Amino acid sequence: MRALVVAGARPNFMKVAPILRALSAAGHEALLVHTGQHYDARMSDAFFADLGLPEPDFHLGVGSGSHAAQTAAVMVAFEPVLERARPDWVVVVGDVNSTLACALVAAKLGPALGCRVAHVEAGLRSGDWRMPEEVNRVLTDRLADLLLTPSRDALPNLVAEGIPAERAVFVGNVMIDTLLAHLPAAREARTAAGLGLEAGGYAAATLHRPSNVDDPEALAAVLGALARVAREMPVVLPLHPRTRLRAEEFGLGGLLAELRTTEPLGYTEMLSLTDGAAVVLTDSGGLQEETTALGVPCVTLREQTERPVTIDEGTNRLAPWPLTEEGVYASFRAALAAGRSPDGERRPEGWDGRAAERVVEALASRTGPRAPSGAREPAMAAVP
Ligand code: UD1
Repeated sequence: MRALVVAGARPNFMKVAPILRALSAAGHEALLVHTGQHYDARMSDAFFADLGLPEPDFHLGVGSGSHAAQTAAVMVAFEPVLERARPDWVVVVGDVNSTLACALVAAKLGPALGCRVAHVEAGLRSGDWRMPEEVNRVLTDRLADLLLTPSRDALPNLVAEGIPAERAVFVGNVMIDTLLAHLPAAREARTAAGLGLEAGGYAAATLHRPSNVDDPEALAAVLGALARVAREMPVVLPLHPRTRLRAEEFGLGGLLAELRTTEPLGYTEMLSLTDGAAVVLTDSGGLQEETTALGVPCVTLREQTERPVTIDEGTNRLAPWPLTEEGVYASFRAALAAGRSPDGERRPEGWDGRAAERVVEALASRTGPRAPSGAREPAMAAVP
């Protein structure tokens, strides 16, 4: 079996790493495409190094742009790659623009090339159509031949949209494969100690969602709440490039100055910071899952979550919406009072470090015999 695995943006890299490893371990051919949606050293290269990812076989180099420009650029660049690689499967993960773009190209070329689309992290729904990620999720799931779900609550979402249940397989959470594999190194990394902080004595925050950072009022409310928390315990805020830009644009530098801001952190550093935090406040999807896996209380700075299992079974809670300084601060206090859960106690089913193996089993069991020899080119050498 030959699989072409797509990664584009920061939250994809930790999802593809265990899948590539499991494909190779089972003797399959794994090719990695990096679309280049994220391109900064700290948003991309650091993750390749940390996660032990191989050099991409194809680098599309698309970079930033409007949603249309970015999605279209990935599509145009991906099409010839797919034609050359002729895999059995195109594996896309998550919900970023690169995910949808490659799924769309593969769905259209698939019948001619004999390849199918598998979506890892299928079936998550926030119900908020204003989120670009929600549009990407719904459309990618509609295009996929195989829907690999991270939690049991995902299947009803797919069935409700008319997707046949037979097309879905529950595999668990590949992000947690990566978390468990890197936890010993993260505990050695002692990111907090490097910042002069004690484990359990600080809050960690991340913020990058357009709905929070592109709106001056929302950004002021969240940063105001974080500054209030910072009067009780230090708040570490690794800054996404988009957030830094907007905070400066909106004249909110004074609030940022009350926080311990850092550059975006690498995977192991961030995991270490999360693991040592008393509370995490975030609008990221991945961190909601990581805190649940670790037992660290989390306040999600969003109106709703596409990962309700982290609330029902995990350590997550939503801050009251619309976000206000008072509401976020009250949620922080409640999370702090709830305290940390013992390691592993709140981990949902399938968040066990073996999800990528189940992804590969699902792909392999649905792959027919290879086309007659000569019908496919052999895997090509790396293309710069
Ligand atoms: C994207 C994903 C989001 C994910 C997030 C993680 C979509 C629709 N959104 O949002 O789901 O949670 O990545 O980070 O795909 N920039 C840089 N350097 C980089 C990357 C981005 O400076 O390496 C800046 C650029 O100014 C860019 C902006 O950040 O315009 C936004 O980047 P983009 O990839 O468009 O979206 P994200 O907001 O990062």
